[in-house]
Amino acid sequence: MKILITGTSKGIGLALAKRYLSQGHEVYGLDLLESSINDKNYHHFNVDVSKKNKLPDIENVEVLINNAGLQNCKDDIDNNLKSAIYVTEKYGFNPSIKSILFNASASSRSGFEFPEYVASKAGMVGYMKNVASRLAPYGVTVNSISLGGVLTESNKPVMDDGKSWEQIMEATPMKKWMTESEVCDWVYFLTMVNKSMSGEDILIDNGEYNLNSTFVWPK
Ligand SMILES: NC(=O)c1ccc[n+]([C@@H]2O[C@H](COP(=O)([O-])OP(=O)(O)OC[C@H]3O[C@@H](n4cnc5c(N)ncnc54)[C@H](O)[C@@H]3O)[C@@H](O)[C@H]2O)c1
Repeated sequence: MKILITGTSKGIGLALAKRYLSQGHEVYGLDLLESSINDKNYHHFNVDVSKKNKLPDIENVEVLINNAGLQNCKDDIDNNLKSAIYVTEKYGFNPSIKSILFNASASSRSGFEFPEYVASKAGMVGYMKNVASRLAPYGVTVNSISLGGVLTESNKPVMDDGKSWEQIMEATPMKKWMTESEVCDWVYFLTMVNKSMSGEDILIDNGEYNLNSTFVWPK
């Protein structure tokens, strides 16, 4: 299948590109940075996906994964949200499309983290539902994942800082973060196996949002 993924030069996007390639798919990657992937089925485009007019022409995309995103950059709304809208409107609405996935964030539910980042990801979940309803008559699945902490290079500053990591684990009921490989499992399932769930945002956060309430009752 023809898979288009944004943000494939690092972290989750790089792992996703490798996962789809390992399963024999043709992957088109869009990123600000160069790519380290050397595979005849991988096609890389050095592009800023928030620049609508710079997006390359790529025909007949079958699976689209909006993954590119930065935290607390100059303009998170432009970089994370508007880019996902531009990319989806350009590549998602074609007769070959079968599935679209958005990489949002658990912070879209909790509201914690940097203000513009939270707003960009919550906006992404709203836009995902809009796209899901427009594409539903064609049998296309459109969903988002809202991830808690992932063991990525970009999180090294907190992962390598003993005190921060301790605080994070205290607030994480399952006492761990997820691996990039586990994110790939979810994304692969939602875009390739799933045929009937659409318009859904899935929270995957080791219980951080749902399992932190306390039960108070007088003795
Ligand atoms: N790592 C986590 O814990 C975590 C948690 C929740 C959500 N997410 C989301 O997952 C996605 C990937 O995160 P990551 O940790 O792999 O980040 P990362 O910084 O390691 O990789 C992001 C990639 O996207 C690219 N990119 C960013 N803006 C771009 C743009 N405008 N145009 C083209 N390329 C662009 C970067 O160059 C980079 O290669 C992000 O959207 C992030 O918000 C990550």
